[in-house]
Amino acid sequence: MPRTGVRPSIAHFVLDSPPSLSIVAAVPDFFTLDDLAAWTAPLSTLSPPARLAVIGDPIGHSKSPQMHNPALRACGIDAQYVRVRIPAGSVAQAFRLFAGRGFTGVNVTIPHKFEALEAVDVLDPQARRLGAVNTVAVRDGRLHGFNSDGPGFLRSVKEAFGVEVPDLRVLILGAGGGAGRAVAVQCALEKCPRLILVNRTPEKAESLVHELKASGSVTHVTAVPWDDESLRGVLRDADLVVNGTSLGMKPADPPLLPPASLEARHRVFDMVYRADGQMTHLGAAAREAGAAYIDGATLLLHQGAISFEHWFHMPAPLEAMRAGLRAALLS
Ligand SMILES: NC(=O)c1ccc[n+]([C@@H]2O[C@H](COP(=O)([O-])OP(=O)(O)OC[C@H]3O[C@@H](n4cnc5c(N)ncnc54)[C@H](OP(=O)(O)O)[C@@H]3O)[C@@H](O)[C@H]2O)c1
Repeated sequence: MPRTGVRPSIAHFVLDSPPSLSIVAAVPDFFTLDDLAAWTAPLSTLSPPARLAVIGDPIGHSKSPQMHNPALRACGIDAQYVRVRIPAGSVAQAFRLFAGRGFTGVNVTIPHKFEALEAVDVLDPQARRLGAVNTVAVRDGRLHGFNSDGPGFLRSVKEAFGVEVPDLRVLILGAGGGAGRAVAVQCALEKCPRLILVNRTPEKAESLVHELKASGSVTHVTAVPWDDESLRGVLRDADLVVNGTSLGMKPADPPLLPPASLEARHRVFDMVYRADGQMTHLGAAAREAGAAYIDGATLLLHQGAISFEHWFHMPAPLEAMRAGLRAALLS
């Protein structure tokens, strides 16, 4: 749930009737930093007006607009969510421009989540602990930074598997990246009974282990090397297997786990999803083992709902978002 504090009224966003779908469909795939700086048509004249954005590089593939625009329509909010491609090193400049153009909020994706942490005016304590910002809310001209990936992960696990993270021993592949790290810290904060961290660059996982032990937030945390023997060993001690690497989006990506190493009792959470709606390698391995599995679309939905709550201080219309996302992934 959003922090309490300055709560802008949403009255000025709310329309008597929902905005037209045909106008929304005319938006280009993405805008650029130059478009944001110039603030000329079509960006400045969109109807409903552009008030929310996702930034990244690349960004044209993002399904966030297809998820958030139905939510805005469902709530009768006179605002539109767009993609803006921002190059590395320009996040702070982009944030100032968004605030100056009257934007309500911004989502941040690869590769900007660390840069965004440094570029906000007010950093939520949980985002500081998780080490990345993926949600920015503009309040009275000030940029407030949050992380909805960690809390979105908790909601996703509960919805998909019907269990709570404190009851699970968790193995995270890719624990050195922004998403994997956020999930690892969130699991530690939830005091999961065992946390096993694996990363291609082992020093990053080892350094996170030291950090978590020093903070005293988890009792049993270890880093293990990424090789078949080590993975087979730690999979025996894990209930939930999480992929936080960027592998799995492309059909040519290599498998993450040794062959036939998953069991039916495992729950498998792939933070990645394929833009063509097909199953990732990890998903196929889970299905073969008879294990319960979700891909990153579930996390995209729940982290998006939490962003919406930060922006508008009301519950997100989850089913409108889910339907929009499902349609985007099937198209
Ligand atoms: N569904 C959602 O809503 C959602 C939310 C957040 C993130 N994600 C997804 O999660 C993934 C990671 O995002 P991120 O922000 O954490 O990215 P990131 O900071 O760039 O981290 C990438 C991670 O993948 C690892 N990696 C990259 N290439 C690898 C390879 N060839 N073999 C083994 N490991 C490799 C990296 O290991 P090194 O440390 O060794 O480089 C690192 O741990 C992305 O696919 C992103 O789309 C999804």
